[in-house]
Amino acid sequence: MRLDGRELVLGVTGSIAAYKAVLLLRELARLGATVTVCLTEHARAFVGPLTFRTLSGRPVLTDLFDPQSDDAVEHIALAERAAAIVVAPATANLIAKAAHGVADDFLTTLLLAARCPVVIAPAMDGGMWEHPAVAANVAALRARGVTVMEPDSGALASGLSGRGRLPEPESIIAVLASMLAPAQDLAGEKVVVTAGPTREPIDPVRYISNRSSGKMGYNLAAAALRRGAEVTLVSGPTALTPPAAATFVPVQTAEEMREAVLRHLAGATIVIKAAAVADYRVRRPSEIKIKGKRDLTLELTPNPDILAEVAASRSGAFVVGFAAETNDVAANARAKLEAKGIDLLVANDVSQAGIGFDADDNEVLLIDRWGGNRALPRMAKSAVADAILGEILTLRRAAGRTAGKASR
Ligand code: PMT
Repeated sequence: MRLDGRELVLGVTGSIAAYKAVLLLRELARLGATVTVCLTEHARAFVGPLTFRTLSGRPVLTDLFDPQSDDAVEHIALAERAAAIVVAPATANLIAKAAHGVADDFLTTLLLAARCPVVIAPAMDGGMWEHPAVAANVAALRARGVTVMEPDSGALASGLSGRGRLPEPESIIAVLASMLAPAQDLAGEKVVVTAGPTREPIDPVRYISNRSSGKMGYNLAAAALRRGAEVTLVSGPTALTPPAAATFVPVQTAEEMREAVLRHLAGATIVIKAAAVADYRVRRPSEIKIKGKRDLTLELTPNPDILAEVAASRSGAFVVGFAAETNDVAANARAKLEAKGIDLLVANDVSQAGIGFDADDNEVLLIDRWGGNRALPRMAKSAVADAILGEILTLRRAAGRTAGKASR
């Protein structure tokens, strides 16, 4: 296993096991990873920055507002660059702060800003690990998608024996590696994803559109690619760069999107419609720019319902729609799932700040045609994308389908 080209952050907190972080760093560097080390104040009491700096070949981050640093918001830049963050050893104090969103030093602020996978390798006294407060904090982090490893058992610094030892560097690296190279559980699948808004022209310079940024759909395409699928991304106009490995089909209008989706439907095993398709278009767009300063009446006509058409085609693909709702989300979404005849509907409440349109996070309700309802907590859209793909595979398995074979 190699980690070449991977940018990782190693957070080290104040535990006697901090010396093992040096061994972990040496092994990560040997595997080719670029590692930035971030020490808490208490960690420095156990191992000095110079050791980590020498082994990583990079400055060690300790202060949130380091006057020597060129970048006043280094924690944000690092949070965006890092492929994963591993905190080893993680004390009960660090776990508590991370669980409660406390950001009072570089490491905890980085953890709050991060959207990448996080691995926490605890080290503490056995009695502390078993304390209900620690257990509750660990449970809260796990519910949020953070990987908190189980500590090893054996002799502890207190002289007692029990569960609380930092997992060995090899175990931590195995967990990290499995997160960085996800299972290829979509290998052999052909996935069509739609993303972004459509633009319906009024005249050569004006159009009707909506606030979709494309982030949800692009994250789905990227996640499906990471998991081994062949991906076609049909996208309305966005400011995003499409994943290089996807077949990219740019479109403007709903009619162009319909044509592109139907053209790529043959052989598709999964179709996911995250695009915000304009429900109406102007019946007769003007060929010349309309002059202002007078009332204007536009005659609108409904666009084709691409999702319903894909479902009705019985192509054999597993069909997933999205629903942008502002009220009665569950009831409206179930009605939409049934009206469109699809397999899974991903509903988001777009009246909520921080999720839905043009946000980095989303909080969705998964409603399936077999009667299931599953609410996911607010997560980065990349994590939501992975959860949706996982749900598709689970539902399809439960329904006795296999890739490319229809059962309805
Ligand atoms: O792009 P982002 O900024 O990341 O925002 C993500 C999102 C809010 C756009 C996304 O999460 C989302 O909710 N997408 C669907 C938005 C939408 O159009 O919802 P709807 O309830 O109007 O449509 C229901 C479904 O039918 C959608 O899958 C839509 O793609 C599809 N549809 C709608 C109309 C139409 N004429 N044809 C369709 O295929």
